[in-house]
Amino acid sequence: MIPVIYIPGDSGALALGAEKVAKAIAAALEKRGIEATIVRNGSRGLYWLEPMVEVATDSGRVAYGPVKPSDVASLFDAGLLSGGQHRLSLGNPEQIPFLAKQTRLTFARCGVTDPLSLDDYEAHGGLAGLRKAVAMTPADIVQTVTDSGLRGRGGAGFPTGIKWKTVHDTVAERKYIVCNADEGDSATFADRMIMEGDPFVLIEGMAIAGIATGATKGFVYIRSEYPHAIRAMEAAVGVARRAGVLGPAVLGSPNAFDIEIRAGAGAYVCGEETSLLNSLEGKRGVVRAKPPLPAIQGLFGKPTVINNVISLASVPIILDKGGEFYRDFGMGRSRGTIPIQIAGNVKHGGLFEAGFGLSLGEIVDEIGGGTATGRPVKAVQVGGPLGAYFPRDLFDTPFDYEAFAAKDGLIGHAGITVFDDTADMLKQARFAMEFCAIESCGKCTPCRIGSTRGVETLDKIAAGIEPEKNRALVTDLCNTMKFGSLCALGGFTPYPVMSAINHFPDDFAPQAKLEAAE
Ligand SMILES: Cc1cc2nc3c(=O)[nH]c(=O)nc-3n(C[C@H](O)[C@H](O)[C@H](O)COP(=O)(O)O)c2cc1C
Ligand code: SF4
Repeated sequence: MIPVIYIPGDSGALALGAEKVAKAIAAALEKRGIEATIVRNGSRGLYWLEPMVEVATDSGRVAYGPVKPSDVASLFDAGLLSGGQHRLSLGNPEQIPFLAKQTRLTFARCGVTDPLSLDDYEAHGGLAGLRKAVAMTPADIVQTVTDSGLRGRGGAGFPTGIKWKTVHDTVAERKYIVCNADEGDSATFADRMIMEGDPFVLIEGMAIAGIATGATKGFVYIRSEYPHAIRAMEAAVGVARRAGVLGPAVLGSPNAFDIEIRAGAGAYVCGEETSLLNSLEGKRGVVRAKPPLPAIQGLFGKPTVINNVISLASVPIILDKGGEFYRDFGMGRSRGTIPIQIAGNVKHGGLFEAGFGLSLGEIVDEIGGGTATGRPVKAVQVGGPLGAYFPRDLFDTPFDYEAFAAKDGLIGHAGITVFDDTADMLKQARFAMEFCAIESCGKCTPCRIGSTRGVETLDKIAAGIEPEKNRALVTDLCNTMKFGSLCALGGFTPYPVMSAINHFPDDFAPQAKLEAAE
């Protein structure tokens, strides 16, 4: 049998040198006259070990990492192709604790299969959900998704089944499925990883959504900063079309469904669903007032399902294994699994898919291994730039939509940024306001003007100008933004700002700090 070597083509791995490693391995094979197949797989999401090279052996996959081009010769000398021992040996990748502790449902194939091989996809359980869906009534598909308890993974956590039912029940001659792959939140990369590592699962999820709601056309709106994901999705759509997974007769059924890939132009607010629809229609990315809901009047005024990549990519396993199977994972009203993305100043950064319910402390200290600098963790921002900063005191909060909301926080797209004790929370609060000012679409006053006034007021606190009065002013301003903004960009910017003020008051008394130091 020809040996198979897996070298991730995922952009995270490429950023860490995977391309050079692939070239070095190809050159070594040629020089040594060895025949082997190189598969450019996705990443398993253990980024501190990338580039992680794997070989398929008789006793399963064996991993090595992080591999540099200069390690390649010694890896071959150590018997790379038969899983020989080397100082970079990691053994069976699935037994690395970071991976072994996960529950991989949505990411089951990511890093395992050849992302553009439909045969490999099917051999690992792919298309089983779609095959079931084409034999079901649309109403039954919607019911299965509702039963699963799946909630939108893009940020708002809205029940996916209810959204689909609204589109299903709305009569129109044309409907659309729009996949939100704008992934603008800091510390997030789950959408990118799945599009690059297992693109067919998203295609399958979108086709199921189309059949369930009566939509025949889907769009994937991908941020332009993701060129590898755009290429992977375009290639995978081509493969799926040629194989009859997409097209006028999905898997030979009477259902038509096709997908187009569109690149965004790089505005955070274009991740907001109505702004995204404007952008898809070729207009400026400005938020639309709701109602009408996109489910009733969305893209080009037609009923539209707009879902995040992970929401849609979680659907195939739900259809395959049933709503109850998925619902059995998780806690409270947060059902199923969530791909937690651990980033920032952390030792073991990467993607960790698990049922809802792990505590924030477990995620940061045990799974993430604490900070990369080795200093104490001071704060953790959960949910991207609009998420709250959590201090250690709140590390017992379980990863659950309601539990986070009860602590004035949010899960968002499940990105976690870790900060050590050198972080200045006043600067972080200012950054939140500045980010809002830069990314504001400008439609409503509390966000457009409030964010700029917020930056100015925080600057005054930093300069020691009437700190108490200005802290009260920032609090007042945050209330105006929270309750008066049209969308969550202006409405949620108060979360990072107020959590920084409330949990780290010392950082907002620079004058006092100065005096204490003297
Ligand atoms: C400023 C802003 C940015 C957003 N960015 C994204 C994004 O990048 N990706 C995403 O899926 N949802 C994003 N959302 C949430 C979307 O508006 C919407 O709730 C989501 O796409 C719905 O899909 P879901 O129900 O599957 O989560 C953003 C919302 C706001 C207010
Ligand atoms: S809150 Fe900001 S981004 Fe949202 S509609 Fe208002 S101005 Fe636009």
